[in-house]
Amino acid sequence: MDGEQLTKDKYEKIMDIAKRRGFIWPSFELYGGAAGFYDFGPLGAPMKKKIIQKWRQHYVVEEGLLELESPTITPEPVLKASGHVDHFTDVMTECKKCSASFEVTELVKEETGDDIEGLSKNEMENYLKEKKITCPECDGKLGEVYEFNTMFRTAIGPKEDRKAYLRPETAQTIFIDFNRLQRIARRKLPFGVTQIGRGYRNEISPRRGVIRLREFTMAEAEIFFDPDDPSHPKFSQVSDEKLRFWPSENQEEKSRELTEKTAREALDEGIVCNELMAYHLAYAKKFLISLGLPEDSIRFREQLPGERAHYSQETWDMEVKSEKFGWVEVAGFAYRTDYDLSQHSKSSGTDLTVFTQNDDDGKKVLCHVVEPSYGIDRPLYCILEHAYTEDDGRNYLKLKKDLAPIEAQVFPLVAEEELEKIGKSILKKINSTGIFAEYDDSGSIGRRYARADEVGVPFCITVDHRTPDDSTVTIRERDTTDQIRVKIEDLPKTLCKLLNSEIEFEQAGEKV
Ligand code: GLY
Repeated sequence: MDGEQLTKDKYEKIMDIAKRRGFIWPSFELYGGAAGFYDFGPLGAPMKKKIIQKWRQHYVVEEGLLELESPTITPEPVLKASGHVDHFTDVMTECKKCSASFEVTELVKEETGDDIEGLSKNEMENYLKEKKITCPECDGKLGEVYEFNTMFRTAIGPKEDRKAYLRPETAQTIFIDFNRLQRIARRKLPFGVTQIGRGYRNEISPRRGVIRLREFTMAEAEIFFDPDDPSHPKFSQVSDEKLRFWPSENQEEKSRELTEKTAREALDEGIVCNELMAYHLAYAKKFLISLGLPEDSIRFREQLPGERAHYSQETWDMEVKSEKFGWVEVAGFAYRTDYDLSQHSKSSGTDLTVFTQNDDDGKKVLCHVVEPSYGIDRPLYCILEHAYTEDDGRNYLKLKKDLAPIEAQVFPLVAEEELEKIGKSILKKINSTGIFAEYDDSGSIGRRYARADEVGVPFCITVDHRTPDDSTVTIRERDTTDQIRVKIEDLPKTLCKLLNSEIEFEQAGEKV
């Protein structure tokens, strides 16, 4: 089997599990579907919540950033001031014969493999002509190239006379609430605010499954700082972290070579713009590692100047290698300067400067911003792909134990009333301690283990014929299939420790 076939099969196998067992599937299937929308099912929804929970732990609890939750519908003046009404566009073209729409850079990538992000509209139009690119659906001629604003439009009120949009990013309400948040924080600069919630982009022609969604979950942080002091108090804790960079110069020179540098070297050599950016790239890599993504599947690609959002002076995409989709952007890190605060200050007539407490002369500054901005849906797909393992005729999802949607399963070895009764009482006990466990008594024990492995259940508990005599059960570990025997009374505590990787499996009970 060649590599391409293997990859295709693997993707199909993952999506088969995802749909059949309930991780993700395309939305609105009964009505023919709608590209760019996905449902997260009984396994996908809790797994996504766990990723969000880990993100909160990393950024809100440990990094000490504040949290905000605002409406997703945004009145037009906010997005006019932020520049989104005029600049939040993608370049599109339509087929003159079948009217199919295409986002030009994606079309070119698919048809030729070339990356033309950053070219002007005219250059793109010329490129399409030179390469004689036609409609991939019907081979028809493509029309002119033009800009399309990708925000979803709506209106507020019964007369629909107040124009509004579904937010394209969660960041804007953080900027417009800046004065209030700063007062609440009573903190010296830098300080940061996060927001987790839905974002919306009316993508022109999303054809990459869960990788390109029109409605998605974002987790963003806006870090406000004095432009004269972009230092981070905890930089020394991450400064030795090795990061793999693909700077814009290398891309312009068509070199695919990655530059490996520590966060400190990247800062000292001017690869990244300031210490806060260096800190947050390293901090973000640690977050991806905590999700179980392998270090060598992570890189930072600098966006080319023509590719950057209108508000950004420097942007790094954190990308994860996918066998199916190539390098997938899972987060962007933009140096937004004082662009947003300045725009909202001018547009609303409100002073958004802040007094720098560290300064003797009481200087007031308009804060600059570094922004880590994640999509949560893409990492979930990448995690599934990296976790999918085939080994000795067995296939399982090697998920980090604290990300597995079903944390344990309880089986009676055979269908006997006594074993079933004990199994159900064990389940009740485990569930009451907050562990998400399920009971399964259908089919042979081998089939039940296989079903559990397929969705990455880390631990299976089996009630066997020894259980009624000595009140012990076996626990089987997913990755090794090793088993230990533990007392029922110790089970909830032991499972908790195992799920949080606080003890080694072999040390948790008597080896079977
Ligand atoms: N806030 C970053 C983005 O919209 O991509």
